[in-house]
Amino acid sequence: MRLLTKRLMSIAALSVACVTGVHAQTADPAVERGRYLAVAGNCVSCHTHEGGKPFAGGLAFRTPFGTLYSTNITPDPAVGIGKWSEAEFLRALRSGVRPNGEHLYPAFPYTAFTKISDADAHALYVYMKTLTPVNTAPPENQMHFPYNQRWALGMWKMMFFTEGRFAADKNEPAQWNRGAYLVQALAHCDACHAPRNFLGAASSVMIGGEYTAAVPGGEQRVWSTPSLTSAPNGLHSWSVQDITEYLKTGRNSFAETYGPMNEVIMNSTRNLSEADVQAMAVYLKSLPPGKPESISKPSAETMQVGETLYNVQCGTCHLPTGLGNQDENSGARLAGNPVVLASNPASLINTIIYGPPLPNPQLPKRWKPMEGFGDKLADDEIAALATFIRATWGNDAAAVTADQVAKQR
Ligand code: HEC
Ligand code: HEC
Ligand code: HEC
Repeated sequence: MRLLTKRLMSIAALSVACVTGVHAQTADPAVERGRYLAVAGNCVSCHTHEGGKPFAGGLAFRTPFGTLYSTNITPDPAVGIGKWSEAEFLRALRSGVRPNGEHLYPAFPYTAFTKISDADAHALYVYMKTLTPVNTAPPENQMHFPYNQRWALGMWKMMFFTEGRFAADKNEPAQWNRGAYLVQALAHCDACHAPRNFLGAASSVMIGGEYTAAVPGGEQRVWSTPSLTSAPNGLHSWSVQDITEYLKTGRNSFAETYGPMNEVIMNSTRNLSEADVQAMAVYLKSLPPGKPESISKPSAETMQVGETLYNVQCGTCHLPTGLGNQDENSGARLAGNPVVLASNPASLINTIIYGPPLPNPQLPKRWKPMEGFGDKLADDEIAALATFIRATWGNDAAAVTADQVAKQR
């Protein structure tokens, strides 16, 4: 039951595109500040649908409560936010309320944006006003009753939403506070990296959650997210430099971006300054681990089957040590890898079945591509393989079952 609710609770954004060309710098410093914050908040990823104009909305979000579309946030007076005063914009951004008093759905992460400072909210407004107006309206939402009743969101907010600006922690250095502000108020990493409850509210503790998105072939599948805390199954083996490199360039000695992280890195974090990304990494590295989970140890027989499959199918690229092959760039490091170790193995299974979906446009070539093994290996083989790589080379995560693999097919 818990698993079922967890599964139901994931929110899916359909076909998020890596948007290019909208992040060009501007000359006016006030506008430039807002542009940079819009990058940090990744407004463009959610407010652009595939083939559509940037910020014109229309991206579908499939939730357990129905389908919702992002709105047009260009300054078009009829279908966008062209007629909104600054106060009205700030109320939507930080309180989740429209000018006509209607509540907004929390698929719009105002639960994070509520922490944006007055000066930054102002800069965002100034920037949004400079965008080219686009006169297209998103499709009508198809939310089920009673979730189509916006007044009911008022009750949701009473239970799960705390309005308020970011408050710096005076015991921490300025760099940590800058990182905390960027992660919590703008980058909303917790929207995907924290578990959600049965009414869709994300916890603020980033111990790992899930997100539904396309796999190669276009089907929607659950992707699990790893813990972003310093837990052994989180960012424990990644240094501040590793995290910075990953977010700033899309790759580090462990991995290269793929899957749902593509839009986060390509549209947002890699366009931020090195200093800001490093501050985010410093903050993430300071997050205390959650409670350790009790895990079921795999049988010696499963480990044996898994090891044999690994050596035949994966070892040439990822090496028998699991350390990857950095010299020939043939395979990412699987020892201490957050996706390999995540409590929920859905993303690891997706990667094995479908291969890692790389960003489009691609990063300059480095790694040799990894193809999917879905056609070559049966569910129980993939389960044994995943179990093996989660429990060797110092990795210590729960066994994977054939049922868990079948769900990702
Ligand atoms: C994770 C996806 C996501 C991100 C990121 C996001 N939005 Fe949205 N936004 C939405 C969705 C979905 C809605 C529609 C909510 C609804 O209809 O209740 C929305 C609604 C809005 C609205 C209300 C518009 C209206 O007509 O009611 C504004 C304003 C807005 N977003 C601005 C922004 C800005 C500015 C940013 C970046 C700082 C941003 N959004 C980032 C998903 C997102
Ligand atoms: C839209 C959902 C979403 C958001 C927002 C998001 N992530 Fe992720 N993240 C994922 C998923 C799913 C995975 C696992 C699969 C993948 O790498 O795409 C992941 C994986 C990761 C990994 C491990 C990568 C690896 O290959 O081992 C790190 C580190 C990470 N995310 C950091 C962040 C940070 C920092 C933020 C905020 C700036 C963030 N994520 C925001 C969905 C998200
Ligand atoms: C042809 C070489 C090659 C083979 C064979 C191969 N991989 Fe990979 N694998 C890669 C490369 C390169 C990457 C990095 C791509 C990326 O991170 O975007 C990768 C990434 C991964 C990741 C994601 C790591 C992360 O950071 O999240 C996992 C998990 C993985 N491989 C597991 C496997 C397993 C299990 C097998 C055997 C069934 C396998 N690979 C076979 C080359 C290979």
